[in-house]
Amino acid sequence: MPLNVFKLAVLVSGRGSNLQAIIDSIDQKELHAHISIVISNKIDAMALERAKKHDIKTIFIDPASYLDKNAYDKALVEKLKFFSVDLICLAGYMRILGEEVIQTFKEKIINIHPSLLPAFPGLNAQKQAIEYGVKFSGCTVHFVDSGVDSGPIISQTVVPIYDDDDEKSLSERILNEEHNLYPKAIRMIKEKQLKINNRTVTRKTL
Ligand code: GRF
Repeated sequence: MPLNVFKLAVLVSGRGSNLQAIIDSIDQKELHAHISIVISNKIDAMALERAKKHDIKTIFIDPASYLDKNAYDKALVEKLKFFSVDLICLAGYMRILGEEVIQTFKEKIINIHPSLLPAFPGLNAQKQAIEYGVKFSGCTVHFVDSGVDSGPIISQTVVPIYDDDDEKSLSERILNEEHNLYPKAIRMIKEKQLKINNRTVTRKTL
């Protein structure tokens, strides 16, 4: 591995299709990066299997082995420091990161969310969109701050909602776009294309 390679940690809890999209984008040489570690809080996450298939190191950090959330977060920080990663990508990671993690890796943690934030943060974003009756939703990549899905927005893709959509069909349409959006956002960060000014993230002009 070249010395100056851009190192990623991917944090997962489940299916791992966004992890797969990042892996594929690296394999296809669209994204010049290396996944140093995949960390899960769920032992049976399908994402761990996907990582292993590609010979990517995985760690399961079991919440049940820690006294409280702070102790868990400390362990997570330790692991992330050990692998000295450049960027931490949350990809379906179902735990809220504590202040220690956020402060230790300021502007180095990103997440993908299946709605056009700030609309419909939190769980079941696609269901929330259908029930609200919006005609467009989408996905958002954002920096992670201490709130829920509230950090500065990096990029978004708009997805239409059709009259006959249900949660499943909308989720599939959005997920497809997530797989395009996430690797591209990582690439922009890797190439230092972004400027962050409080909440506003813009592309640097060349
Ligand atoms: C995605 O919809 C992502 O936006 C959300 O959780 C889901 C994870 O899916 N944060 P997967 O595990 O990447 O397939």
